[in-house]
Amino acid sequence: MVRDTDVLLHERRIFEPDEETIQNANVKDWEAEIEKGKDLEKYWAEKAQQFEWFQKWDKVLDDSNKPFYKWFVNGKINLAYNAVDRWIHTEKRNQIAILYVNERGDERKITYYELYREVNKFANALKNLGVKKGDKVSMYLPMCPHLMVSILACNKIGAIHSVVYSGLSVGAFVERMNDARAKILITADGTFRRGKIIDLKKISDEAMLQCPTIETVIVVKHTGNPIKTSELSGKEIFYDRVIEGEPAEFEPEPMDSEDPLFLLYTSGSTGKPKGVLHTTAGYMVGVSTTMKDIFDIQDNDLWWCTADIGWITGHSYLIYAPLLLGTTTLVYEGAPDYPDPGIWWQIVEKYGVTKFYTAPTAIRHLMRYGDKYPNIYNLSSLKILGTVGEPINPEAWIWYHKNVGKEKCPIMDTWWQTETGMHLISPLPVSPLKPGSATRAFPGVEADVVDEEGNPVPLGKGGFLVIKTPWPAMFRTLYKDEERFIEAYWKDIPGVYKAGDMARKDEDGYFWIQGRSDDVLKIAGHRIGTAEVESAFVSHPAVAEAAVIGKDDPIKGQVIKAFLILKEGYHLNTDLIEDLKRHVRHELGPVAVLGEIEEVQSLPKTRSGKIMRRVLRARELGEDVGDTSTLEE
Ligand code: WT7
Repeated sequence: MVRDTDVLLHERRIFEPDEETIQNANVKDWEAEIEKGKDLEKYWAEKAQQFEWFQKWDKVLDDSNKPFYKWFVNGKINLAYNAVDRWIHTEKRNQIAILYVNERGDERKITYYELYREVNKFANALKNLGVKKGDKVSMYLPMCPHLMVSILACNKIGAIHSVVYSGLSVGAFVERMNDARAKILITADGTFRRGKIIDLKKISDEAMLQCPTIETVIVVKHTGNPIKTSELSGKEIFYDRVIEGEPAEFEPEPMDSEDPLFLLYTSGSTGKPKGVLHTTAGYMVGVSTTMKDIFDIQDNDLWWCTADIGWITGHSYLIYAPLLLGTTTLVYEGAPDYPDPGIWWQIVEKYGVTKFYTAPTAIRHLMRYGDKYPNIYNLSSLKILGTVGEPINPEAWIWYHKNVGKEKCPIMDTWWQTETGMHLISPLPVSPLKPGSATRAFPGVEADVVDEEGNPVPLGKGGFLVIKTPWPAMFRTLYKDEERFIEAYWKDIPGVYKAGDMARKDEDGYFWIQGRSDDVLKIAGHRIGTAEVESAFVSHPAVAEAAVIGKDDPIKGQVIKAFLILKEGYHLNTDLIEDLKRHVRHELGPVAVLGEIEEVQSLPKTRSGKIMRRVLRARELGEDVGDTSTLEE
């Protein structure tokens, strides 16, 4: 969403922390902590002490081959061991690790000890299926404990997981699977969604016909949806069957700090999704430190992150950081407004959630139903709230603060990305807050707003958001595409990481993120590339050429507006519009929310044939088109 900067620069409200928040805070002095972070290696080395290492690192940061940074050089560690096994020798052994709840009201509580046994059994099963260190395992699963177990089992072996969000459909799924060349796919009979069951197995069957590297498909019986045998039935096996009789012990693989941990695909400016590669030790240190200090994690917390595990937020802050900190993490499978728009608040009351992390789009959606629902329930257990995924507009911030946080919970507006792995710009609970600003860089991180040459822009002026120092959870490359890794992030402005966002900095050094600077849309907080949507359109028989732009939407942030040149003999009527929508949904999934479709006779292009979406955008918004010297007539 491109934001109305005038409104933002006039946002002058400041919310100071109350006494109780300061008393509880892990970090009591923001300024002093930022100062401490300036000694990068010392700061992060101290944070790395929390873990059990098989072998300690020799050097915290190796920056001899930029931008290929290495962290905790020569350290040996296992993530799952630290997230699960470590706790069973402590008083957390019988504490709930995962609290699973779904829209039907079913619940499942899994203690650290139970999780330990389950992960080990499944790790043994995967090993029997031939999975070794460095192999790739893909998951296409709902929000359920099996997904968490699968991820942790991969860590135990040293296999690289690649989760495909279950809201992505066949086309997007196949592309991600084939890029990763996974050996195993883990999927399920379905997921619960608004009183229905979505048949994931059916989508996966269709995708598997185009995924030759998959040797085995493990199917979780999750919803009780009857499973139809597919053409690939020879490769299929039920989860229950594979773990049958497997021992509940497993020797965790000592991983090098820099061994790959997972691949996660995200959209970029071109049609091909980026395979973001994260490695082991730095990631562990980064996600656990940020969660602990930003959300003030304490022993008796009940943490709830509403993001789907299929996105980075789910990876870092629903599974990894909470378990690495020994917290109880709530996993909810369902929509925010089903059976009614009070369901989230009902869950907060029922279980006593203390820290709650969600997306601005969800807040805006729930706001639409008024103040009634959050006020039916007792939300007094809540202590700290968070948001992520896109800029939060001050109205939504205030609504969240007043109705959910009852004006006593600080709101942590956390800016980060799939690539950054961890929060990079965020307040701490003791920070003075301004609604709509993610405030300042996290201790140990240095951010700035610069022009195209990399010079800092004057305060209040817009520019490119860059990160000037390496951070431990940074992605290490784009899978099999080092060139694009350098091109997309490190080349335009030498020496710094270019995030792909526009931002402003105010007189207090607070950042105000304005939206993407590239051809990436943010629909309900999800990243989707314009080129991906365009190629989905042109794969329809009626479409000759397509160009899409983001159009502001009060709830989703942005939705897609498409301009299409149709092939001879086709006319844009209601039937065709319906069919096009169905087609794009089939290719990309429900994340690609289509607003309008317009038929055009030509598209604005540069002389080299690139679509000038900027021109379409300006025309759509009735704005000045700007420099069109490169426009071919
Ligand atoms: C893009 C990254 C990282 C978790 C989910 C999204 C936008 C993210 C904020 C925020 C303003 C934000 C940026 C960024 N974004 N958080 N607090 N304020 N914008 O991960 O899908 O990789 O998207 O989300 O545009 O570049 P992602």
